[in-house]
Amino acid sequence: MNGNPFAPEAGPAWRRHPQAPAPGTALGRVDEIEDPGVRVLSFGSGRRVFSMLLVRHGDAVRAFLDACPHNWLPLSWRGGSLLSEDGARLVCSNHFAEFDADDGRPVSGPADCGLDAIPVRVENGAIVMG
Ligand code: FES
Repeated sequence: MNGNPFAPEAGPAWRRHPQAPAPGTALGRVDEIEDPGVRVLSFGSGRRVFSMLLVRHGDAVRAFLDACPHNWLPLSWRGGSLLSEDGARLVCSNHFAEFDADDGRPVSGPADCGLDAIPVRVENGAIVMG
């Protein structure tokens, strides 16, 4: 990469992760995820793993980095459901910070900023990295 990798024009930091899926990567099908529901997708392994959350509501899918801005642990670290009962909020399994499931902004708990959104699109029921 040329230039300053931390300059705003270099894009979000997660794009520079060596295991981050490239634009156009197939991420599965919408109907493979509960409605509403969350799927954790991981690329690579060990300390170099890249994990993301796919959040389904009907035909819509949002994606976020699986990294809680409270302590930078995966939201999914301790397992269990990551969605509130009404499906409106993502809930970190560590210290229970809550984030809006649509846009990732913090709603309650110890996180003072939101989740990193990852662009995805749905094409004929297939989820594709944006
Ligand atoms: S690491 Fe998510 S709330 Fe603390």
